[in-house]
Amino acid sequence: MARKFFVGGNWKCNGTAEEVKKIVTTLNEAEVPSEDVVEVVVSPPFVFLTLVKSLLRSDFHVAAQNCWVRKGGAFTGEISAEMLVNLGIPWVIIGHSERRALLNESNEFVGDKVAYAVSQGVKVIACIGETLEQREPGSTPIAEKVTNWENVVLAYEPVWAIGTGKVATPAQAQEVHCELRKWLNDNVNSEVAASTRIIYGGSVNGANCNELAAQPDVDGFLVGGASLKISDVLSFIVPL
Ligand code: G3H
Repeated sequence: MARKFFVGGNWKCNGTAEEVKKIVTTLNEAEVPSEDVVEVVVSPPFVFLTLVKSLLRSDFHVAAQNCWVRKGGAFTGEISAEMLVNLGIPWVIIGHSERRALLNESNEFVGDKVAYAVSQGVKVIACIGETLEQREPGSTPIAEKVTNWENVVLAYEPVWAIGTGKVATPAQAQEVHCELRKWLNDNVNSEVAASTRIIYGGSVNGANCNELAAQPDVDGFLVGGASLKISDVLSFIVPL
């Protein structure tokens, strides 16, 4: 089954309302391939989610950068999957390495979050670690807890490549993505392995994205810094 190319822009904890509007205007004015060919999702900080959703073209979609592991309640500072559904936010990023490292999010916690978000009808960009030793225990709780893989995109992000300008070579990215697909085949099933998008994140920019996208198991990108640059913001939308 052909996998639709997926481009995610993770704006992390950046931007003002004015800056966000400028990026959205650039995206809105662009001539891009149809959403049947490329799925484009931007992920602003929580406070800009509704602004971006209200301004963004209807063929692009919005993702939150996190959500709580269960139904909401007395969890100060958190937002729930139910709230995302209520606001019409279809996607969430879960398990980003910055949250794993800075906020001690464990593999189990991330697995529970992915499963809960999916159970509420929110689609998940699930980020997993860099080495084989990290990827397997990172993927196992997700594989054990998620039954509907249609709504999960896996993001492979080598920590040494995030925000450093040191991008994985296309061959390195392909090797890991291929290994992850084999892992899905062996630990979930062949259908999920064939259909799940595995995207790459780590210093992707307009200059290196085409070569990465040409790899058979690289199904898209999760772009950080360059997704905030007006000059680069459209260059990743590169269907093959
Ligand atoms: O979520 C995006 C990744 O952390 C990559 O960030 O493109 O700034 O390296 P970057």
